[in-house]
Amino acid sequence: MADNWKKRIAVTGGAGFIGSNFLLYLVDKYPDYFFVNIDALTYAGNLSNLVSIEGKSNYRFVKLSICDFEGLGRCFIENDIDSVIHLAAESHVDRSIYGPASFVETNIGGTFNLLEQARRRLADGVGFRFYQVSTDEVYGALPPEGTFTEESPYRPNSPYSASKAGADHLVRAYHKTYGLDTVISNSSNNFGPFQFPEKLIPLSVRNALAGKTIPVYGDGLQVRDWLYVADHCRALDAIFHRGRPGGGYAVSARNEMTNLDLVRTICRIIDDLRGGGPREELIELVADRPGHDRRYALDPNLLESELGWSATADFHDALEQTVRWYLDHADWLERCISGEYRTYYEQVYGKR
Ligand code: NAD
Ligand code: DAU
Repeated sequence: MADNWKKRIAVTGGAGFIGSNFLLYLVDKYPDYFFVNIDALTYAGNLSNLVSIEGKSNYRFVKLSICDFEGLGRCFIENDIDSVIHLAAESHVDRSIYGPASFVETNIGGTFNLLEQARRRLADGVGFRFYQVSTDEVYGALPPEGTFTEESPYRPNSPYSASKAGADHLVRAYHKTYGLDTVISNSSNNFGPFQFPEKLIPLSVRNALAGKTIPVYGDGLQVRDWLYVADHCRALDAIFHRGRPGGGYAVSARNEMTNLDLVRTICRIIDDLRGGGPREELIELVADRPGHDRRYALDPNLLESELGWSATADFHDALEQTVRWYLDHADWLERCISGEYRTYYEQVYGKR
């Protein structure tokens, strides 16, 4: 089969949260494609998520940073890569506030390296598709009403979102200037298994279990638009295969919630599953995140009408399943809590 793969796809950041969920989905669904997972295994990358596909003939892991331009070139040629699904990133807003440099290096510099290597493949006659996986945060904050669409202007407010916006602009420019077949999607907040416990949902579960305070920033009335990662994986699949060249798609389940309501719901789910509580008493309002965007909400109408995708998960069921996953994988959570995590936690929460 080795030379007859229908597609030879580099998935960057495949050992992270969304990447792991997506590769587990893709490798089984497309046995006639070959997938190369390019991941530097930063603190956020975890190969143990992928043990069930480790030995599959259509899957290979390559430990490589997207900041390594020459390494990427070798990898693309050795594996005869014809597509990139680009998820690798420094992804956490709080970390970008305390140390923006790696965000610029990976999210802008790394995306530039991938685009340049894709351009070389294009020049060598390979029909190349480049899929940039991006975020709703590039649009900045919304007032209480209205939604962002693909037409909304980019107004990023954090070093993280600015670095993703810069990368998106480069992708767009490579389409316009060099005719590279690109597509971009901007998705809302994902939740599900394998999310690193610096993010609100797994952090709240972990702290609730440990009887520690659950820090909610500011007044807790910021609104996020929550999307179950399995729904996102189906959207990524549809957009990669059928998204318009040069196009962009907003991915959302139209599921807005304040942070305080979300954390309260998580506490109630754990009280029901484990008894004890009420764990809501652990919630503590702490100093706000600098530059904190008040509200995000995306309109997924284009994705629904053009590609026939729609979110199917019931939010409460999916949240309960997610909380159960973390309760059943306490060892996974604890393995994430390395010395590095403790230093990070102290830096972000110590002074709040
Ligand atoms: P994550 O932090 O869980 O995973 C990121 C992965 O990228 C890790 O495996 C890490 O090792 C890898 N990585 C980091 N720097 C790298 C480098 N220089 N070279 C190679 N690999 C590197 O992130 P996630 O939440 O899975 O997000 C994946 C992508 O989706 C990101 O591009 C993010 O901006 C985007 N996104 C995420 C969300 C969300 O809610 N999680 C929403 C919208 C968009
Ligand atoms: O919107 C999409 C984005 O969602 C992605 O692009 C990012 O990669 C991803 O990290 C996520 O960003 P957020 O900043 O929204 O995720 P986080 O889980 O850090 O925070 C969610 C909300 O909860 C946000 O309003 C900040 C708040 N929060 C977060 C933490 C970690 C708290 O109130 N307390 C906390 O301890």
